Amino acid sequence: MDIKNILICGGGMMGKNIAFVFASNPNYQIGVYDLYQTDVPGGIRTNTKQLVEHGVLTDADVDDRLSRISFTTDMDSEIVTKADLVIEAVFEDMNIKRETFAKLEARCRPDTIFCTNSSVMSPSEISRDLKHRERFVGTHFWNPGHLIPLVEVVKSDASSGEVAQTVMDVLASVGKEPVLCRKDVPGFIANRMQHALWREAISIVERGIADAETVDKAVKYAFGLRLPQLGPITNSDMVGTQLTYNIHDYILKDLEDSHEPSPLLKQMLDEGKLGFKSGEGFMKWTPEQIAKENADLNEYLIRMLYGK
Ligand SMILES: NC(=O)c1ccc[n+]([C@@H]2O[C@H](COP(=O)([O-])OP(=O)(O)OC[C@H]3O[C@@H](n4cnc5c(N)ncnc54)[C@H](O)[C@@H]3O)[C@@H](O)[C@H]2O)c1
Repeated sequence: MDIKNILICGGGMMGKNIAFVFASNPNYQIGVYDLYQTDVPGGIRTNTKQLVEHGVLTDADVDDRLSRISFTTDMDSEIVTKADLVIEAVFEDMNIKRETFAKLEARCRPDTIFCTNSSVMSPSEISRDLKHRERFVGTHFWNPGHLIPLVEVVKSDASSGEVAQTVMDVLASVGKEPVLCRKDVPGFIANRMQHALWREAISIVERGIADAETVDKAVKYAFGLRLPQLGPITNSDMVGTQLTYNIHDYILKDLEDSHEPSPLLKQMLDEGKLGFKSGEGFMKWTPEQIAKENADLNEYLIRMLYGK
């Protein structure tokens, strides 16, 4: 299928960045629909300021991309009805997502491809009531969406292989690194691994093995450093199947395997320790430290991805 018109449904933080990504390819016209009037160009300029400051893009490049992005609050607009592919990025709420797709299905062609950017919700469940479920897949972008290359393309129990492949091709055409998640499982691929690590990290703090700063340091100055180059499966092959087997045989019985969120997290919630939001979580954070952590992350990603 020839994809030309791409609709981003929901122009919040993720939606703006996703629109910016697709606008990198001049073959696409991008529409953004939101319930509320939203300053899409202004938000995009703010989010991409560091890319311009580091010389990855010029102001003219940003203007060029913005010229291919239009915005509407009207569901009956041509921006919606002529879409070949829709990426939904509305609030993370099952009912809102289902209602949104029902409205889209009533307005778009029966072969328009529907994608959801839900971080955790099952594409099978979101698409449950649609008439044409085969054209629906998950496309899980990672925040910040304009920088992180990975997008998980998640097949529902009804997605067609052809639709998943078209979505993978479109994502590759704007420089993303799409991966196919063949089964609709909670956490898809990457968050399953990420949260297995977080569970152990929190457990180490909870069991008094090390404090919070030390846990982060042990990741950042050891295996975290080589992860962008060496994934866990290649690493297992590198050290050898025998060693991996022996380590797991010895250590797995001691690792955290709780199926509930940690009691420490619950206690912190009850004490109002909400992280950056309240200035204290596992650690204490001043507004300056919070701003620095956010800026440093983007700086690091730009250095890693663009060498600038
Ligand atoms: N924030 C993240 O780190 C992250 C990462 C990956 C995926 N996601 C997923 O992306 C989606 C959007 O997240 P976000 O962080 O951009 O949220 P956000 O709150 O910044 O944006 C949501 C936008 O959707 C709009 N909206 C709400 N209901 C709508 C409706 N019925 N029709 C049209 N627009 C509607 C809102 O006005 C808002 O602009 C969620 O499903 C979220 O789980 C978020």
